[in-house]
Amino acid sequence: MNPLPVILDVDTGIDDAFALMLAVRDPRLELRAVTCVSGNVNVDQVVTNTEYVLETAGAAHVPVARGATRPLLAEPHHATHVHGADGLGGFARPSDRRTEHLHAVELLRRELMAAIGNGETITLIPMAPQTNIAMLLRTYPEVAPGIERIVFMGGSASVGNATATAEFNVFADPEAAAIAIAAAGQLDIPMTMYGLDVFNEVLITREQAVSLRRSGDPAAQLAGALLEHQLGVFGREATTIGDAGAVCAVIEPEGLRTQKYGVRVETGGSYSRGQTIVDRRDWAGDLDDDPQGANLTTMVDIGLEVDAAGYAKLWLAALGQTP
Ligand code: RIB
Ligand code: CA
Repeated sequence: MNPLPVILDVDTGIDDAFALMLAVRDPRLELRAVTCVSGNVNVDQVVTNTEYVLETAGAAHVPVARGATRPLLAEPHHATHVHGADGLGGFARPSDRRTEHLHAVELLRRELMAAIGNGETITLIPMAPQTNIAMLLRTYPEVAPGIERIVFMGGSASVGNATATAEFNVFADPEAAAIAIAAAGQLDIPMTMYGLDVFNEVLITREQAVSLRRSGDPAAQLAGALLEHQLGVFGREATTIGDAGAVCAVIEPEGLRTQKYGVRVETGGSYSRGQTIVDRRDWAGDLDDDPQGANLTTMVDIGLEVDAAGYAKLWLAALGQTP
């Protein structure tokens, strides 16, 4: 079976690094490009971290492009309390790789239009604030036929993390998330939300992290060090592969149980800004009578349950660990 073409949109970050390693190493995927955006850290550090992780994972040729330097409207809000000042828990290093001289939106457009020309489609896996994705879909809607599906890490049908109600990627740029989700609906692009309802379930133990760090594979060594950093940040004996779970959901979609619900993003609200409003009502009477226009939402496949052990095993195997 031919490998599935994918593009990752990242704010590398520790768990974005886990996702990049998986996308490079799993033979069922063909990583066509990586686009960078301001999120966990500033966009230039994201680019540096992304190039370093790709080099460490042995992906010398994958094009990388720098994207949005700040959210569409919100003030930049980073997550250095989780990922460290350098975004990689102190393990960031420069790379000899060179970034494309294209803006991320232009690289996305180039790759998607080429796919259309070749009769292909590409799965987009955003795992960061969706600033690049919103700009792409509003600037170049003609790319839609080249998109197989958008499987994004973000949002939540339940608890928040950045705030009580909002997940970080959506909270960091609520307008972008609202535009991307609305545009996906208007352009008939299938969309899956890999949100906090499943994000924290796929766990790696301290013992497995030590085994990775002690392996002879540079990517596995880096992954082990990043996992140990994350274990320390959260003070636990097991920690999530985070964004990498969204890549697992593209490789093995049967491992993610989803339900299709209408989704909107709260861009107002004193304490709810950035919340993904997942409409789980099931009586047509209420939906038809909804003064806020339930029919204006985009129907999104919401991840509700995940084969956590299976995805952890999939990710470890990509790094040469057979638990
Ligand atoms: O809320 C988790 C998300 O925010 C992940 O993508 C993590 O990398 C951070 O960007
Ligand atoms: Ca991320």
